[in-house]
Amino acid sequence: MNQFKKMIAENIAEELENFTAEEIFDWIENPPNSDLGDYAFPCFRLAKSFRKAPQAIASELADKINLNDHFLKAEAIGGYLNFYFNRSKLAKTILSKVLEEKENFASSNLGDGKVICIDFSAPNIAKPFHVGHLRSTVIGSSLYKIYTHLGYECIGINHLGDWGTQFGKVIVAYKNWGNEERVRQEPIQGLLDLYVKFHEESEKNPALEDEARDWFVRMEKGDEEALSLWKWFSNETINELQKIYKLLGVHFDHYTGESFYNDKMQPVLDDLKTKNLLKESEGAILVDLEPYGMPPCLVQKKDGSTLYATRDITAAIYRKKTFDFAKCLYLTDYSQNLHFAQWFKVVELMGYEWSQDLEHVPFGRVTHEGRRIQSRKGTVVLLEDVINGAIEKVTEIIEEKNPELDNKEETAIAVGVGAVIFNDLSHNRIKDISFSWDTAFSFDGETGPYVQYTHARAGSVLRKANVQEDNWHPEINGAYLEDEVSNQVIRQLETFGDAIQDAMNKNEPSILTRHIVDLAQSFNRFYHDHPILVEDVAVRETRLALVIAVKEVLKLGLSLLGIKAPERM
Ligand code: ARG
Repeated sequence: MNQFKKMIAENIAEELENFTAEEIFDWIENPPNSDLGDYAFPCFRLAKSFRKAPQAIASELADKINLNDHFLKAEAIGGYLNFYFNRSKLAKTILSKVLEEKENFASSNLGDGKVICIDFSAPNIAKPFHVGHLRSTVIGSSLYKIYTHLGYECIGINHLGDWGTQFGKVIVAYKNWGNEERVRQEPIQGLLDLYVKFHEESEKNPALEDEARDWFVRMEKGDEEALSLWKWFSNETINELQKIYKLLGVHFDHYTGESFYNDKMQPVLDDLKTKNLLKESEGAILVDLEPYGMPPCLVQKKDGSTLYATRDITAAIYRKKTFDFAKCLYLTDYSQNLHFAQWFKVVELMGYEWSQDLEHVPFGRVTHEGRRIQSRKGTVVLLEDVINGAIEKVTEIIEEKNPELDNKEETAIAVGVGAVIFNDLSHNRIKDISFSWDTAFSFDGETGPYVQYTHARAGSVLRKANVQEDNWHPEINGAYLEDEVSNQVIRQLETFGDAIQDAMNKNEPSILTRHIVDLAQSFNRFYHDHPILVEDVAVRETRLALVIAVKEVLKLGLSLLGIKAPERM
């Protein structure tokens, strides 16, 4: 919680009997420009209970209010009570706080150890791990980090699509055209090629479809040959996935894919039956959701096999029992909105109150040069190609601009991967993204490399000044940071914690992305306008303190997005 807004709210609450500081806190706004103060309290909604014009209320409050020494004045303008910071005092407080708290800056115990399950990434084995899954992976991973920073215990779950009819197809293709070596070397691409090959061949020879179905039935019945191929395909894929996750800096606490629930669904189906929720329709079994304006939720097919929804219901019940989550988030694109709405309703109808703690966090689709990404025919941009492409591109740039750099390879990975993640997280999640090679790797403007470069630039100033960040206690005199440009940097540090909380409340990491781009831009303005390594020791120490603080917060912000901050680039 923003401590300054809290101070304002408490001060106002002292003057207003009928309103609590919490209510007032929520009403406080950020004025559009600094002439109107740094925070503003609108008095319009008090007009009725006070039987007075908002401007009169604001004026009375302005006279009475007891200001804390972080504020210079409170002024009534147009029905608002506007608060103006004592810039010098604010600068000193904020910089000291960042320097002391470092990577724990803006952390909190808000979560109080409550458990948040985050179900993310979840690609389908033997189908492409494409840039569409990148969104789920990076948004989920960032939320994991953000919630953790705010005191929650996060459990990251990879609900892999490791069961389903695609395995029947891949087994047929492998037996006809497969090659063991290939699957071992490049499982993701190798299995995808088999999957695509199957679809080409089955168009000419529809009997293959029946064969594939047979193999899947054999899997479901526990046939040894079918299961051992399946297990092998899965293990090879998971190994390769883990390499990609490692490159992306993504961590999962559990790899419990759909197959994990194979032996856990029957009790759930029984329970649904006991609770009188099941209906039969043409041999299939479903939960009628007509009263809720939704199509029925199918839980068992005619042939007795279960469905995606059955596994999701079972998984949710299992997770509640195992982790006792306060919230369970699901990251998929919005084409699955109905799927989640349906089975969340089923869980509610089963009488589980915690169904309201299940939350689908949808995001927009990724199109590639205007077309939807699909797996059958092969218009896919594989995630691995994107990442490797980015790393190659960065390597070229480094060779051109800074060939003397140490750790070239490590830096190229950090910057290339950072560019990909940042590009994704700078879009409001619900928007569709058109993926193009050019914008993903752009190094100008509001991009990951720009923020990383700003961080490295701050580091280079500190090296020039011979300052050991961790071990230096500068004398901070906020009076040197009262000008507009410096103050803007200070304000962005001050509101950094609000951005994190807002990002968490809305499950929207792009709020944080935007904030650190703004911070990087203001810092670059500061750097341009104010020489740092000046003679005057007092000025120099204060400006260096700001440089350290900005560097620290950029690094923290990047890390909450899942991006590294190299010292040099
Ligand atoms: N494997 C699914 C897909 O690629 C996503 C799974 C999301 N998680 C879940 N519990 N349904 O579309």
